[in-house]
Amino acid sequence: MASPNSLIPAIFLFILSCWYLGGSQLSHAQNDAIKPGKVLSYSQQLVSADGRFRLGFFNIGSPDHGYLGIWYTNDTFNFRVWVANREKPVSVGKGNLTMDADGLLKILHDGGSPIPLNANKTAPNSIATLEKSGNFVVKELNPDGSTKRMLWESFDYPTNTLLPGMKLGINYKTGQKWTLTSWLTSQIPSAGGFSLEWNLTTNGTRRLIMRHRGDTYWLSGMGSNSNSVNLVMSSNAGYYNFSYVSNKNEGYYSYSAPGMRISRLVLTPDGQLADFPTPAFVSGIMCFGYSSAQGCVQQKSPNCRTSSQKFEQRRGYFISSSPHLDENLSVNLFDCMDRCWSDCSCVGYTTLHNNGTGCRFYSGDFVEEKASNLEQFYVLTDMPKTGEPRRKKGVWRIWIIVAPVGALAISIWACFLWRKKLQWDQDRDRESTLFNLTSSRRSGDTYEIMNNGKEGHDLKIFNFHSIVAATDNFSTENKLGEGGFGPVYKGNLPEGQEIAVKRLSRSSGQGLVEFKNELILIAKLQHTNLVRLLGCCVEGDEKMLIYEYMPNKSLDFFLFDLQKRKLLNWEQRYNIIEGITQGLLYLHKYSRLRIIHRDLKASNILLDNDMNPKISDFGIARVFGRNDAEAKTQRVVGTYGYMSPEYAMRGKFSEKSDVYSFGVLMLEILSGQKNNGIDHPEHALNLVGYAWELWREGRGLQLIDSTLVESHSDHQILRCIHVGLLCVQEFAVDRPTMSGAISMLANETWPLPSPKQVAYSTKRNLAEESSHKEEESCSTSITITEMDPR
Ligand SMILES: *[C@@H]1O[C@H](CO)[C@@H](O)[C@H](O)[C@H]1NC(C)=O
Ligand SMILES: *[C@@H]1O[C@H](CO)[C@@H](O)[C@H](O)[C@H]1NC(C)=O
Ligand SMILES: *[C@@H]1O[C@H](CO)[C@@H](O)[C@H](O)[C@H]1NC(C)=O
Ligand SMILES: *[C@@H]1O[C@H](CO)[C@@H](O)[C@H](O)[C@H]1NC(C)=O
Ligand SMILES: *[C@@H]1O[C@H](CO)[C@@H](O)[C@H](O)[C@H]1NC(C)=O
Ligand SMILES: *[C@@H]1O[C@H](CO)[C@@H](O)[C@H](O)[C@H]1NC(C)=O
Ligand SMILES: *[C@@H]1O[C@H](CO)[C@@H](O)[C@H](O)[C@H]1NC(C)=O
Ligand SMILES: *[C@@H]1O[C@H](CO)[C@@H](O)[C@H](O)[C@H]1NC(C)=O
Repeated sequence: MASPNSLIPAIFLFILSCWYLGGSQLSHAQNDAIKPGKVLSYSQQLVSADGRFRLGFFNIGSPDHGYLGIWYTNDTFNFRVWVANREKPVSVGKGNLTMDADGLLKILHDGGSPIPLNANKTAPNSIATLEKSGNFVVKELNPDGSTKRMLWESFDYPTNTLLPGMKLGINYKTGQKWTLTSWLTSQIPSAGGFSLEWNLTTNGTRRLIMRHRGDTYWLSGMGSNSNSVNLVMSSNAGYYNFSYVSNKNEGYYSYSAPGMRISRLVLTPDGQLADFPTPAFVSGIMCFGYSSAQGCVQQKSPNCRTSSQKFEQRRGYFISSSPHLDENLSVNLFDCMDRCWSDCSCVGYTTLHNNGTGCRFYSGDFVEEKASNLEQFYVLTDMPKTGEPRRKKGVWRIWIIVAPVGALAISIWACFLWRKKLQWDQDRDRESTLFNLTSSRRSGDTYEIMNNGKEGHDLKIFNFHSIVAATDNFSTENKLGEGGFGPVYKGNLPEGQEIAVKRLSRSSGQGLVEFKNELILIAKLQHTNLVRLLGCCVEGDEKMLIYEYMPNKSLDFFLFDLQKRKLLNWEQRYNIIEGITQGLLYLHKYSRLRIIHRDLKASNILLDNDMNPKISDFGIARVFGRNDAEAKTQRVVGTYGYMSPEYAMRGKFSEKSDVYSFGVLMLEILSGQKNNGIDHPEHALNLVGYAWELWREGRGLQLIDSTLVESHSDHQILRCIHVGLLCVQEFAVDRPTMSGAISMLANETWPLPSPKQVAYSTKRNLAEESSHKEEESCSTSITITEMDPR
């Protein structure tokens, strides 16, 4: 349950540790067993006879966290189904698995005493084998090589995963109990708070019990004395074969899955029991507080809590309160919630460390703000009865602060305009045009620059001569590129400030509508992931927009250049993806305007000094009424390759058409290829089609940019590809919203639905589409569809 804040450091640590992983796939030991006197080095792996399972060392979290584990060779999610040393990680690269002459398996490492696996269950003539079931077993052999007896098996020591054939229950003869225990976080295998056990009562009923730190948390349905009962997975009754066994030796619960299917029931750090990605999903909901739905056991709650309260993730800050810390490194986000819930003075919490351990507890008032540089907290809220009231408290607080500031800003602004009018008579026309522009608003829209001093900009009106001077008379050296509506120049103001000037071309015959549109829209938007408009300049036919200057140009400049894309490592790319999601979410949801961008693409993502992404080019963005779900336009504008099918073909657009473009963009960021520019001899497909093909064949990782191979976390990247594919699904209704996409990216343990058919067209179809589109454009005498992405 990693928050976005904790993801990035985790990824970074992965990158650090990836170097060591490099050679592990090229293991020399293509063998399924280890014998006395032999060593499995850090980079070698045992492979089960049928190739399905591997045993070896892996790194997770940080460079000093190396673990011996077992996993499915072809598991796209890379789940480690068993971990030998979950509480005792070894330094990465500095350990090995040895079987000594007595048959004792032990992990030798530089950092301390050896870690034995089969202590007290050894025999000199034995062998340790990774079996086809994924069970790692130590057997004593007869002199002729046949098995004498079983000494030890990994299935007796489950971690967080139940594999087909594994038992959950109890062996009455040895007293051995088989239970699952969650990982602490998705990156830390040490024992977390949740456990799952098989419970048999004397009267013959049986069920699964999930506990959180000893307290009963969730119960499966009860099975009676019938033979084989499917206790939990009603939706998949036919898919898995659940069974239980009860005799005088043992009582256990177990399951089998059809064929060679990759299947593992994982108890997640936040108390879900699931097979990922789908379809088997057992306890999919978070039980907490008063919930008693679907097997949840109502928690003990102090009197101060009510059934309508819960914790929600919010960005902002707590006023005047220093947090109370829990520095215990064995607690995770869920524990923090549990403790905060039980403490009446606690109204918010988050984890203490980036890796998701420790807690910070807050009391006092919370101010919600959307700026993406602010931290996210889990804040106690009352569940809304209707749509809005939930946020009222915070909003009122902001208004009290903002209203006077806003009023002041308005007076200053008005005064400023008025003075300029007086000063420069010859500019009077220009200014009245501008004033009309900036103060015009469509009836029915609720936004106004005036009444929102906080979001409203301090827009400057630039003098034409100052822009000519700043750009050296629009010299070619200063030209940054050609935008959809005209060239963009770099400029230096006398004060030293660098600016970008978008000069709307006169010849294209369009512009005024878009100019006005962009000016009005962007003047009211403020978010770290949107490019900031500084002002504008109108002089006769000349119309210019003045932006903050982005030293690193745009994303396409890096992404689609063979050399430059090496500069974008995975951490940066993820940061860019995250920034774009935040910017889009703001446009769609939080800006109060509800804006559909309609032309999201790599060249419209600008990069600042620190490679933070800023969405630009609002020329064709559209404001949506709060209640409109979808709109239709006669003029289809945008960029081929990024346009959703319903928009390109029928002119229908909605938030989901931006989500489609976002999905394409994400696949481009992962692959370093243009959607339309992919040159793959076997595929007459575009990137979306190619990604879809790879995914269906289970080769998703082959999509990624070769320069990322040395610096990534497969799990993370696959998740991004998966979300990308969900965003480009053919039917808008299947695509997630931006907030859905953000949750999918941030909550690494959440299972994702399988992508359905994605929308892509072959090059031929595209060509047909485009000629058709040009005709349509001509009839309206506006041609702003860009065929060729900048
Ligand atoms: C793993 O996937 C590869 C490529 O799809 C396939 O060739 C191989 O047989 C698979 N291995 C197993 C054990 O399923
Ligand atoms: C196994 O690891 C131990 C501790 O790091 C080291 O001393 C030993 O040389 C290693 N053995 C082999 C064969 O690499
Ligand atoms: C294993 O044997 C050692 C002595 O060799 C003993 O101290 C320890 O308690 C035994 N452990 C178990 C689990 O029986
Ligand atoms: C089953 O659960 C009950 C109630 O939690 C407990 O008293 C009992 O010991 C459990 N039985 C087993 C075999 O764990
Ligand atoms: C068996 O015991 C459980 C509690 O341990 C109870 O909930 C259940 O109703 C009992 N079943 C029968 C058939 O008596
Ligand atoms: C489930 O198990 C039963 C009994 O072992 C077997 O007859 C049946 O074929 C299995 N079904 C599936 C789908 O594997
Ligand atoms: C840390 O938290 C764990 C889990 O709640 C608990 O078992 C342990 O005793 C705590 N350690 C300290 C030092 O409080
Ligand atoms: C988590 O982070 C803290 C602080 O950086 C560190 O002390 C601790 O060892 C980390 N835990 C793990 C398991 O990496």
